[in-house]
Amino acid sequence: MDELNKKIVLEEINNKVSKMKDRLVKFRREIHMNPELSGNEKDTAAFIAGILEANDIEVKRGVGGHGVVGILRGRLEGKTIALRADMDALPIQDKKDVDYASKVPGVMHACGHDVHTTVLLGAAITLGSVRERLKGSVKFIFQPAEEITTGAESMIKEGVLEDPVPSAIVALHCFPELQVGTVGHRPGMMTAAADRIKIVVNGRSGHASRPHQTVDAVLVSSMMINALHHIVSRRTDPLQPSVISIGTIKGGTAENIVADHVEMEGTVRTLDLKLRERMPTLIEDVVKGIAGAMGAKYKFSYSFDCPSVSNDKEVDNLVSQCASQVIGDDKVILLNEPMMGSEDFALFTEKIPGALFRLGTGNADNGITSSLHNSSFDVDEESLFVGTELMAWIAVNYLES
Ligand code: NI
Repeated sequence: MDELNKKIVLEEINNKVSKMKDRLVKFRREIHMNPELSGNEKDTAAFIAGILEANDIEVKRGVGGHGVVGILRGRLEGKTIALRADMDALPIQDKKDVDYASKVPGVMHACGHDVHTTVLLGAAITLGSVRERLKGSVKFIFQPAEEITTGAESMIKEGVLEDPVPSAIVALHCFPELQVGTVGHRPGMMTAAADRIKIVVNGRSGHASRPHQTVDAVLVSSMMINALHHIVSRRTDPLQPSVISIGTIKGGTAENIVADHVEMEGTVRTLDLKLRERMPTLIEDVVKGIAGAMGAKYKFSYSFDCPSVSNDKEVDNLVSQCASQVIGDDKVILLNEPMMGSEDFALFTEKIPGALFRLGTGNADNGITSSLHNSSFDVDEESLFVGTELMAWIAVNYLES
């Protein structure tokens, strides 16, 4: 495709998206009103598969749970690019006062996965309309269970990256801190690795008035928590960001009994791979030392859950170039810092070059400022059109490169 033809295709994409705006808003609101928790995305998956099939896109259902894969084959032979969206919601009560608020008590699309899903459906329909000009294939991956970081792994296990094999993958995530109409991107580290720890402290119970005859698991746990928070300030390099958080603590039976058993769970987030590998030892040293000094026993487990998303330089470059062409140079923001949050999109980028970028969804003038995972989270729906056009344009350009 020469430059002139490319221009024509970009115009066609732009026209198609303009004509589809109402439909995209309808899709998004339908998904937003009917959110499903991680691993239960049955109706969302059926909704997606139905739309893909109605648009003559080959569909595979039930890939790694409720995952749906759409394959669009262009008229000409060529490479394959994968575009990925996650589709699960969160256990949060929707508190927005709008007619498209969640109809499911206690479940809400508070991370914008309804937007990701809609954008990918929009991109599939748009690319379907220019398939005669496509050189290669586009694989649309609708992933379940992102919030519990198991969906990407199960889809990969069930062959989502085979037949046809994509040589690059792109995804986006809503970002309310960025104004609608803008996009944030970054080569290299984009999100942190997130791992889980579990600590069990076993002491000896007894009467609260005779502490010397007991080993107080509650006190030992509090000393451990305190000391664990000093790992980041005193044991790791201040130039290597990391976070250790203890999120749950359970123990004790009554106010006048010294507890003999406490369980704690927490997460560890790191950006540096070597630091990630050191963390289990750093943490267990603290747990072991304090348990030993206080006469308690402990059990410690550390599970490596989700690695960092590392954006491939070339794919990130493609994203930023395409974004410049779709929304203009001044709307494309190079992000200075990665986020300490995690994304299981990382498992895809471990296998093939990929990039995750941030789609601006905020609009302070219209009061759309709530952060992700907040009970009043919402987006400026203009972002649906920006995302759709950009995703489609990225696919066309990758296949031409
Ligand atoms: Ni999310």
